[in-house]
Amino acid sequence: MKRQLINVSNRLPVTLNPEIKKSSGGLVAALEGFAREDFALRWIGWPGGTMDDPHEQHRIDRILRKENHCIPVFLTEQQARGHYEGLSNSSIWPLLHYMPTYFRYEPEWWPEYVAANELFARKVLEVATPDDLVWVHDYHLMLLPMLLRQRMPTLRIGFFLHTPFPSYEVFRCHPQRNELIEGVLGADLVGFHTFGYLRHFRSAVLRLLGIESDITTIRHHSRHTQLNVYPIGINAARFAEVLKGEEFAAHLKQLNETYHDQKVILSVERLDYTKGILRRLEAIDRFLSAAPDVDRIKFIFVSVPSREGVEQYQELREEISRQIGRLNGRYATLNNSPIHFIHGSVQFPQLCALYARADVGLVTPLIDGMNLVAKEYVACQGEHAGGPAGGGVLILSEFAGAAEELFNALIVNPYDPGAVANAIRDALAMDQRERASRMAPMRQRVLRMDARTWAGSFIGDLAKQEPAVEPHRQIEEAIERVRGALSGGGRVAMFLDYDGTLREIVRDPDAATPTAPIIELLERLCAMPNLDVTIISGRSETDLQAFLGRFPLGLIAEHGAAIRPSHDNEWQRLDRNISYAWKEEILRLLRLYEQSTPGSQIENKRTSLVWHYRNADPEFGAWKAGHLASELASLLANDPVQIRHGRKIVEITPSHINKGAAVMQMIDRHAYDLILCAGDDQTDESMYRLELEHLLTIKVGDRQTQAQYRLPSPAAFRAFLQRCITP
Ligand code: UDP
Ligand code: G6P
Repeated sequence: MKRQLINVSNRLPVTLNPEIKKSSGGLVAALEGFAREDFALRWIGWPGGTMDDPHEQHRIDRILRKENHCIPVFLTEQQARGHYEGLSNSSIWPLLHYMPTYFRYEPEWWPEYVAANELFARKVLEVATPDDLVWVHDYHLMLLPMLLRQRMPTLRIGFFLHTPFPSYEVFRCHPQRNELIEGVLGADLVGFHTFGYLRHFRSAVLRLLGIESDITTIRHHSRHTQLNVYPIGINAARFAEVLKGEEFAAHLKQLNETYHDQKVILSVERLDYTKGILRRLEAIDRFLSAAPDVDRIKFIFVSVPSREGVEQYQELREEISRQIGRLNGRYATLNNSPIHFIHGSVQFPQLCALYARADVGLVTPLIDGMNLVAKEYVACQGEHAGGPAGGGVLILSEFAGAAEELFNALIVNPYDPGAVANAIRDALAMDQRERASRMAPMRQRVLRMDARTWAGSFIGDLAKQEPAVEPHRQIEEAIERVRGALSGGGRVAMFLDYDGTLREIVRDPDAATPTAPIIELLERLCAMPNLDVTIISGRSETDLQAFLGRFPLGLIAEHGAAIRPSHDNEWQRLDRNISYAWKEEILRLLRLYEQSTPGSQIENKRTSLVWHYRNADPEFGAWKAGHLASELASLLANDPVQIRHGRKIVEITPSHINKGAAVMQMIDRHAYDLILCAGDDQTDESMYRLELEHLLTIKVGDRQTQAQYRLPSPAAFRAFLQRCITP
């Protein structure tokens, strides 16, 4: 049986109106091409509208599944309002498009968004098998990748964002910013139209979740998410076919007759505030006020009604009608009114004829993920299409994703009405040679890099992703090893790091006292007769004594500089012969870093100096830490110290002191059947490198490690310990 490719988008590629009609977007064509070759294709999505009658739902469901490989997700009116009009299109959409002033938020929308994502997840899981590919599209379904990952971990999950991803400063306005980003990170592969959007997404992941990444890989919770750039293209084959057809020719003939003595300037878009329609009208006003012969100019606006249940869209529609009325009033003559406004959609062959006839394609969104209209206009230009000789001129906003590829267009700043007016004037005056030389390379690119190429490269990359290993399978083995040693009457030692391993990290280190579950766990561990537990930390003796002194545990402080072998012993120093002469000069240097890096602070321990940058700006802090580490390396080249660049710290300690050496000191006189060492930081790696028989090592968190096993969080580590001591 073929693997399934399950494509999940808010909308299904069909319309129910009331009969079922397949839509013809690029994605449909592209995926159908693949399905025939390699995959069994399925679509999951909302058929639009609301349909509460269960019989009707059942009937539609049956037909869609059978004839279109589609599985509908029906939303109630309340769900559609909360999920689609509310959270998706009134809160996430404006932020993704840098427009917080359009942001609206009602607290009851969020549960509907969660519920809708859950509904989609259930539909996917009804049909998915563990080896399938699932491709999730767009901002309506940002929680879906994680929901699927949790329930069927080996699925290959892709997510593509069809909009821009904004700067963190804008995205952070959303009350559920963390949940949204975490949801997307359930995917193996996340695609964007441009590198700029990818870069902003990484920055949001760093600043919101504290997860660092390299350019195309985010490592988190023992898995990774790959990021890449895939600019979407048009359904080129369909354009080629229609441009050869009779219907198209008839429409074009008619347009040529209607506008035989006029220059046509065409704009096509959904009626959306991101498309810059009002700004464009300002530019048209300027252009017309200076135009020598207004009768020879026709602006055609095809404004497709969109999201009309959302208040801002209704207001925009009214304002656009008002402004167009005003301009037509001002510039109309007996023969012509300069702007022809179509508030509706047009049939595909007619749309192609409009594109072909237009002397200028005027595409001026204030921001747009890609903008397919620009590419479609280009595809319909040239002699073959019967439009202007040499092709027309594309005027394109620099804020559309498409501007990165269509750089031979007249690129404009849509916020500058004077510049747009001048571009219209220049486009109309451009000679045939220049028009052709600009249009030809754009056409080549648009026809070559079409929707099939786009979907092919995304799916190809998704199929290459390794299936996520189920981490619990591996950790089960570790649990069995500990249980085996304990129940077989053997003696077991545990060396457990505290912050980030047993205890969640908090912003204020003094606040990281043991919580009730930790206290209970430690009590249970201490009660085990054949288990010796030692907490091994970078913290000072004083901290450890205050936090954990009352437990019958071993304690190791300052990475091994001081040890308290058991509850009954005094603290012993292991650093009596070590010189700390270097500290004074280094402290002076660290003070300079502290001053110039807001949020950072120095910790002056007896045996070491630490510069903490957890509360600094993550990028600035990391950059300064890199500089500090290399400055220290040259300053201290001849001193018996080591410089550790650990988790949000740079620490300088004497070379002879490390956690591995302290472990050796503690186990010196005992024979253990199993020694478990666990930590979350680079300073814990010295324990994992010990050449000991019966060593079991665990890393908590997502960084590189030499440990044998990995757990995602302190909570998971505590659960692991509980299971080890529960027979
Ligand atoms: N379109 C349409 N009917 C129309 C006018 C346009 O289906 O009457 C299509 C157009 O061909 C294009 C899409 O709508 O493929 C708009 O895509 P674009 O990327 O430009 O903007 P979006 O609507 O996705 O923001
Ligand atoms: C944009 C979004 C799509 C959406 C389309 C039409 O392109 O990225 O996900 O389907 O607009 O919007 P609508 O609200 O009608 O689905």
